[in-house]
Amino acid sequence: MTTGVAPHDADAATGPACVLVLGGGGREHAIVWSLSRETAVQQVLVAPGSDAIGEEPKARCFPGVSALDPAAVLDLATRENVDLVVVGPEAPLAAGVVDYLTDAGVPTFGPTRAAARIEWSKAFCREVAAAAGVRMARGRDFVVLEPALDFARELAEAPGSRGVVIKADGLMAGKGVTVCDDLMAAHGALLSLFSSLPEGEPAQPVVVIEERLIGAEASLIALCDDHGALALPPARDHKRLLDEDRGPNTGGMGAYSPVPDLPESLCATLVDVIHLPILAELARRGAPFRGALYAGLMLTPEGPVLIECNARFGDPEAQVLLPRLAVPLGPLLYGAAQGDLAAAAGELGVHGRMLPTTGDAAVAVVLAAANYPDTPRKGDAISGLEDAARAGATIFHAGTTRGQDFTYRTNGGRVLAVVGLGTTVRAARDAAEAAADRISWSGMQRRRDIAAKLPPGAGSAGASPEPISESAWTKGAAS
Ligand code: AMP
Ligand code: GLY
Repeated sequence: MTTGVAPHDADAATGPACVLVLGGGGREHAIVWSLSRETAVQQVLVAPGSDAIGEEPKARCFPGVSALDPAAVLDLATRENVDLVVVGPEAPLAAGVVDYLTDAGVPTFGPTRAAARIEWSKAFCREVAAAAGVRMARGRDFVVLEPALDFARELAEAPGSRGVVIKADGLMAGKGVTVCDDLMAAHGALLSLFSSLPEGEPAQPVVVIEERLIGAEASLIALCDDHGALALPPARDHKRLLDEDRGPNTGGMGAYSPVPDLPESLCATLVDVIHLPILAELARRGAPFRGALYAGLMLTPEGPVLIECNARFGDPEAQVLLPRLAVPLGPLLYGAAQGDLAAAAGELGVHGRMLPTTGDAAVAVVLAAANYPDTPRKGDAISGLEDAARAGATIFHAGTTRGQDFTYRTNGGRVLAVVGLGTTVRAARDAAEAAADRISWSGMQRRRDIAAKLPPGAGSAGASPEPISESAWTKGAAS
């Protein structure tokens, strides 16, 4: 099927003139913010977008178009003559929107449903990683309860065990993972998961059980086109709701980049031993991956271990990564969408595995609604937004609406990401905190320790962090 979508003056050097971004959260706001500041980009359409995204220069939102409806998205792309569609969240990937657009000849940045499965099936991710020789935590997937309970016992009682992780298989919006300190907690999590299933034995794995790894986490996201990868700098998310990594897991309460204990020079090696083998394995299986491949890493004393793959930019990682890029995003996403990432990078003078960055570090402090993550309250009036922007921060809206009185109100769990820049992570943190301090609403929740534990000079271009030893960067098969 072809639609006759006629490209504007898009080419690898200048990039797309008209881009359609799918989604309406904080990550998509950062993508739109980034694209709309590029001179070659003339229009950024967003479906469904949000009131705040619609305030960006060149942006036009289509609130009536669902990002999950392939026919509606294709209709919009055709009608508006878009050069490139960029998919933000995972749900449109799982809904097959990329397959539909690609079949219709619309250049689309985002993997097909078959390739995006690496995000929503933890079992598939482990299978691909094992075949690619990429190291993951020791673990297995299960269809029925009894052997799952036995394996959890085996892991929990292994010498040196630090606990067991129970991962539901499927698209769980970041809520399918339970980190268990001991066997009792693991058995509890398994019983609760299996009791929530419909009657009858499922055909697919329902749970992955892994040994619990201990270490700091980092996200390494690369732009990919079937066989090639170009990484953004690393970022560190803060997944727990409360300071000191306490409380429930969330979508992410803040992030920073660079990550001083994961120097960018060594990230290139990780692209070689993680992203490229996974891309090759997906292609070998007939599911080549074009889009953002997100490697969630645990930096263990034995070296980095892959703990998850996502098929998109992270949120709130995108909010700290995109403002740091020293090259325009549009030509790279356009190149990747067409299997031409290397040529697009070459046109921009980018060589090697890493995208060049500005000298700035970035820190995002997420402000969340009352009762997040359970039942976030909507409708609370937000004050201090203009004051915070005057303080020099960039504010990305994740869950807000603007009323007729022009007041923004909460409309989701994570509401805002307040991003500060600075020559060190500490300076960026100070900027983000000072701006976040000016924003409030009834029941607002935030962490106060995002990027708080780093030494003062960490993350500056001249700093010499304590890197993980090169010898630790060897690959080993998942088992
Ligand atoms: P995921 O949904 O796979 O990203 O997992 C969510 C969070 O669970 C991760 O960010 C980690 O904090 C934690 N996690 C996942 N797998 C492991 C593991 N094998 N060991 C320790 N923590 C894990
Ligand atoms: N920040 C974690 C994620 O985007 O999955």
